[in-house]
Amino acid sequence: MAKVLTCPPELLKLDLTGKTYLVTGGNSGIGKITVEQLAKQGAHVVLACRRLDDGEKVRAEILATGARGTIEVLSLDLSDLASVRAFAAAFLAKHSQLHGLVNNAGVMNTPESKTKDGFEMQFGTNHLGHFLLTELLLDTLKQSAPSRIVNLSSCYHDIAMGREGEIHFEDIHFTTRKYDGWKAYAQSKLANLLHASELGRRLTGTGVIAVSVHPGWVRTRLIRLSMPLWMQDFALKPFLRLAGMIEPWEGTQSTLYALLAPEVLQHNGAYFSQVGMYREKSAAKGGWPLRSPNPQAHDAAAATRLYDESRKWVGLT
Ligand SMILES: NC(=O)c1ccc[n+]([C@@H]2O[C@H](COP(=O)([O-])OP(=O)(O)OC[C@H]3O[C@@H](n4cnc5c(N)ncnc54)[C@H](OP(=O)(O)O)[C@@H]3O)[C@@H](O)[C@H]2O)c1
Repeated sequence: MAKVLTCPPELLKLDLTGKTYLVTGGNSGIGKITVEQLAKQGAHVVLACRRLDDGEKVRAEILATGARGTIEVLSLDLSDLASVRAFAAAFLAKHSQLHGLVNNAGVMNTPESKTKDGFEMQFGTNHLGHFLLTELLLDTLKQSAPSRIVNLSSCYHDIAMGREGEIHFEDIHFTTRKYDGWKAYAQSKLANLLHASELGRRLTGTGVIAVSVHPGWVRTRLIRLSMPLWMQDFALKPFLRLAGMIEPWEGTQSTLYALLAPEVLQHNGAYFSQVGMYREKSAAKGGWPLRSPNPQAHDAAAATRLYDESRKWVGLT
């Protein structure tokens, strides 16, 4: 297994007092550790999640570790645009500053299903929910500049269980083609990457940067629809580790680097990857930043088209 990339320790000691961060899916996996680290460094962190009781439990757990910062739990269901709008309104009613938006929440390989608004579940949740959230918070991010947007993509934007990632513009929501849970995940993760690269272009000169990251193959609950968690966490754990699976703390390094490293400012719109599985073996060791082996990841016209169509889908004209 290639060496896991780690965030320089001095960045994890920066004083973030007075900074506000928002982490979607902050109650679990990579999101939870991201909230914990930012709060440890003194930030105010808004933990967005769909089950408030779970979020409150995590908040109490993190504060009990002696974190210096503060954590606020707010309700957000990314598979429901009305919930995204209500969340943004609640956030903006309380906050005039946002220094880091971490579009972290996600679902993987779901059975064929639709969001509340009728979008394919993975594209709707992973991309469109975050797209609308980002649009609604953009002015606040600009007012708070320098600020950053970090989208959790995946090496599966390139190839996911043998399926090459592609934005299938003719049928994004699988209305005519046969549904495939891995194709849909790859498409949604490519959308996360293209969203960040297009934002990078559009936000030039505003003091806001946007990047996407691959966190690694991380032992979290994400896999639950593809493998029982007891297999991942117990029966197969040593074998999966040998095969490259990493722990949540290691899987949070790319996000923290993207949020905190000064050199990231030189790479607006770029993709930062932990070790990963790509169609080109040379990419497997990852890179901060990494040039994706997926040709569509560099298609600026596709990124612009996705952005414009996403605005229409979420009801922004
Ligand atoms: N783990 C990996 O190997 C891996 C690899 C590449 C990329 N990623 C990406 O990393 C990100 C974090 O995943 P993870 O591995 O930490 O998985 P996780 O532990 O399953 O966390 C996913 C989070 O997303 C939340 N979420 C799912 N659907 C949501 C919705 N409709 N509205 C609001 N929140 C929702 C979940 O909330 P609930 O607790 O309510 O379900 C949970 O908090 C994802 O974007 C994933 O695609 C992970």
